Amino acid sequence: MATNADPIAFRGALGSFATGVTIVTTRDAAGLDCGLTANSFNSVSLDPPMVLWSLARSSLSMDAFRNAEYFAVHILAADQETLSNGFAKRGADKFAGLETERGTGDVPLLRGCAARFQCRTAYQYEGGDHVIFVGEVIAFDHDDRAPLLFHGGRYALAARRAAALTASNDVGSDAPGRFGEDFIGYLIGRAHFQLYGRMQASLAQHGLDATDHFALSILGIQDGRTAVEIAEMIGFTGARLTDDRAHSLAERGIVRREAPSGRLWLTAAGRRTLIELAAAAKAAEEDALGAFDDNEKALLKHLLKHVIHSTDPGLPDPWATGEAAD
Ligand SMILES: Cc1cc2nc3c(=O)[nH]c(=O)nc-3n(C[C@H](O)[C@H](O)[C@H](O)COP(=O)(O)O)c2cc1C
Repeated sequence: MATNADPIAFRGALGSFATGVTIVTTRDAAGLDCGLTANSFNSVSLDPPMVLWSLARSSLSMDAFRNAEYFAVHILAADQETLSNGFAKRGADKFAGLETERGTGDVPLLRGCAARFQCRTAYQYEGGDHVIFVGEVIAFDHDDRAPLLFHGGRYALAARRAAALTASNDVGSDAPGRFGEDFIGYLIGRAHFQLYGRMQASLAQHGLDATDHFALSILGIQDGRTAVEIAEMIGFTGARLTDDRAHSLAERGIVRREAPSGRLWLTAAGRRTLIELAAAAKAAEEDALGAFDDNEKALLKHLLKHVIHSTDPGLPDPWATGEAAD
């Protein structure tokens, strides 16, 4: 076990405690707005309503908070990481370009937060290299926004546990030659096939298959690409856009083929088809993710992008602009 004499180990151990992230603001004696990012916030009392947070003695904001009659604590929302970083920069002009409201004592109030507590400074306690501020809450508001979290020295997002899954067992994953239901390839693959399976009826209505759909989707991002360029982009799916297939799409009036470059352009009919397929894909996505809130959807997509990034063999990026049509 590490001893108290090891501050880095101590900080690391404290990082095991997942917290939200707040910005605490006040107005100094000269009438200047000041504030900083703090995750030392906690609730203290319900009656009277009280909260606390602690400020490092080294902070440039120390005098302002020591002398402030009022301060405000803002619980940051999941999309406020940039704001958090801005208020964690020592001595920076943290309010530049920000639209603020005014609270009691003219304290600056930030927008877009999950919750805000306006406080009157009730007590200050010495806390080693920090000062602990206890505030009596005189007003508060909150919004149904997912919170930004901090854990192990990094920002994190919250996901609720899915009650239906907590009891599921991973059967036999350690038996040689046998993978369990937690194998990531199985999970991602099965989720993909089940989700994409919902698209089959819409594709069939248009006389298209998955390869056509992949190719048209690439053209939907940016058309004017050649069949070879498209084939490179969708090759990872196992689908092959052959010349014959491109020809057939052109014959059916879904794409226009430019000679002699061989570049493909969506026709008006092709674009309409793609819009209908996009609506079917959106509906399939909404069905599949119906049990998730917006934060969980964002988290799932974030993690999947991470897996895509870490396994990318160097595929061309269909969203990179300026590759085609020039
Ligand atoms: C997630 C996070 C949490 C933080 N929590 C605290 C805290 O609770 N107390 C503190 O004094 N500083 C905390 N800091 C560091 C301050 O935000 C940082 O030192 C800031 O530059 C202080 O600004 P100032 O010196 O201009 O007052 C935290 C920083 C981050 C990124």
